[in-house]
Amino acid sequence: MNILIPYYSRSGHTERLAHVLAEELRKRGHEITLEKIEVERRRNKWRLALPLLSTLPVLPLYLWIAPFRRWWLQHYPQPEMPIKPLSHPHVAAFDAICLGGPKWLYIAYPIARYLRQVEGLEGKRIGAFATFCGPPLEVFELQMLFEPLRQRIGNRGAELKTTLAISSHFHEFFFRHEMEYVFRLVSRLRFGRSLRSFTLDSPWGMTEVQRFCDELCNSSTQPL
Ligand SMILES: Cc1cc2nc3c(=O)[nH]c(=O)nc-3n(C[C@H](O)[C@H](O)[C@H](O)COP(=O)(O)O)c2cc1C
Repeated sequence: MNILIPYYSRSGHTERLAHVLAEELRKRGHEITLEKIEVERRRNKWRLALPLLSTLPVLPLYLWIAPFRRWWLQHYPQPEMPIKPLSHPHVAAFDAICLGGPKWLYIAYPIARYLRQVEGLEGKRIGAFATFCGPPLEVFELQMLFEPLRQRIGNRGAELKTTLAISSHFHEFFFRHEMEYVFRLVSRLRFGRSLRSFTLDSPWGMTEVQRFCDELCNSSTQPL
């Protein structure tokens, strides 16, 4: 297959994952093109967090009330950010798209813009991959990122076939990476495992990469 891997990465972790996926897919005989999505202007982390502040009070409701969660994931205000012109603004020639970015509470702003801007997505099979600091918490991490992505991809006439989420064990916030300590503790409490055991360098990480590539490549090649 001819596969495009468009990705955005602010601090390098998702970029590394994109390259690992490219290597694995090339090994399987696919033709891979990488597209690095770049923002027009890099913002400091505090400015980046500003648009998310208004959504924080809703978090307890989101976490504990399932009907509200379903509603919120369809209606929350998703920030976007201008991106530089793409090398592949039209993706119709590719058989599959493997789209990656970090989790910024929800979809990373440049990825949201990419999904609005890119042309030729109709009928494409999509695999979405992400890095975030935390362990793979179903509601807070996975659903919060991949459900809105699934909707946006569906709205563009494509289908999200598979997802991959890997912990980077890295968080810019707040002053001395305090959020990393929070997620380390959460990982121990929720999974009884270290946060490192969910990173790309762990056996779990490598198994997940294999599963993602299997699901992206082996799903039906019929038009969606
Ligand atoms: C604005 C912002 C919001 C973030 N939100 C989350 C989050 O909700 N959950 C999480 O685990 N990590 C979160 N992170 C951490 C990043 O997802 C993590 O560091 C990611 O691996 C960075 O990827 P990159 O190096 O490719 O940019 C956030 C980071 C930023 C800057």
